[in-house]
Amino acid sequence: MNDTFLRACRGEKVEYTPVWLMRQAGRYLSQYQVVRANADFLTLCKTPELAVEVTLQPVEILGVDAAILFSDILIPVESMGMRLEFSEKKGPILSEPIRNRAAVERLTIPDTEEDMPFIIEAIKILRKKLENKVPLIGFSGAPFTIATYMIEGGTSKNFVHTKKMMFQHNGVFSYLLDKLTTTVISYLSAQVKAGAQALQIFDTWAGMLAPLDYKEFALPYIKKAISELKKDGVPIIYFVNDCAGILKEVRKSGADVIGIDWRIDIGDAIKKLGKKVIVQGNLDPCALFLPREKIEERVKDILWKGEAAKGHIFNLGHGILPGTPVENAIAMVEAVHKYGKKE
Ligand code: CP3
Repeated sequence: MNDTFLRACRGEKVEYTPVWLMRQAGRYLSQYQVVRANADFLTLCKTPELAVEVTLQPVEILGVDAAILFSDILIPVESMGMRLEFSEKKGPILSEPIRNRAAVERLTIPDTEEDMPFIIEAIKILRKKLENKVPLIGFSGAPFTIATYMIEGGTSKNFVHTKKMMFQHNGVFSYLLDKLTTTVISYLSAQVKAGAQALQIFDTWAGMLAPLDYKEFALPYIKKAISELKKDGVPIIYFVNDCAGILKEVRKSGADVIGIDWRIDIGDAIKKLGKKVIVQGNLDPCALFLPREKIEERVKDILWKGEAAKGHIFNLGHGILPGTPVENAIAMVEAVHKYGKKE
């Protein structure tokens, strides 16, 4: 069994630096496009056979050291009672955004087995099909990031509605975040119970917060979620996009592995986090548009700097982009395996 990824997450000795890519299943793969041509995105997420098929594609094609369940961070939001759509142009749309206490009140805490059985089913099939070839990562959004989608109604630039709700200090924001924290804990715990061998929590928008606000409005909830989830015994990766300004606070999350974006030098990030930390990252997704030799140079630089940490899992600094040449993604994985060999 290739458990290199899991051992790296635990800070144990590995023969080489393991690698996987955020959003490794997706539109840059023609094989994904074939499946997607006959099913819209939400149908893909909710049909275990299809979700399984696209989850396995990058494992075969890229030779990565981990699989990540194909789904979306907004799936549990629909189960909480909000109407969710994906538009080709605008991305996710939640047509009735949460703006007051009554709207938070209406949200239910979903039961994963009952309300999202397709997640459980997909994980169970995946564990069988993977035959321990590589471990399976389950995931969720962080409470703060999920909240931004619910409050803004979709992706946002300035997060004005979210910050207005935070700054009103009338208990509505914390009421919403408490409900989301409970949801995230039970959702991820159900994924572990079904067979997920590691968890990644995506905090895509936490970097939009001033450090002081991150400390008050995001950190307490993620900390609580992680401390509860630790009881399940699988490694927890916490990815914060645009993390450079809040790394000192991010370290307090209690996660086993900190995922970092590409805007900070990984060596500097390790210095800020302390050498006991295990890091994941952090090649700029756009670097995969470079010629192969240049990709190799950047891979070597990150690998070399990553040696300063207690453990390093190679990844991009955010999701792989549509239009990325697949052969470059393969070259990146090969370079990590070649140059990341330990003595
Ligand atoms: O990593 C993987 O391969 C697993 C699949 C996965 C998807 N979304 C599939 C997806 C994961 C882990 C996510 C997480 C996710 N979803 C995040 C956090 C990670 C990040 O990128 O910051 C966020 C913010 C979302 C919300 C979301 N989903 C947006 C903003 C969009 C539209 C933008 C886009 O990339 O299309 C999506 C849609 C989405 N999620 C697609 C995929 C493959 C594209 C849908 C399609 O096929 O048309």
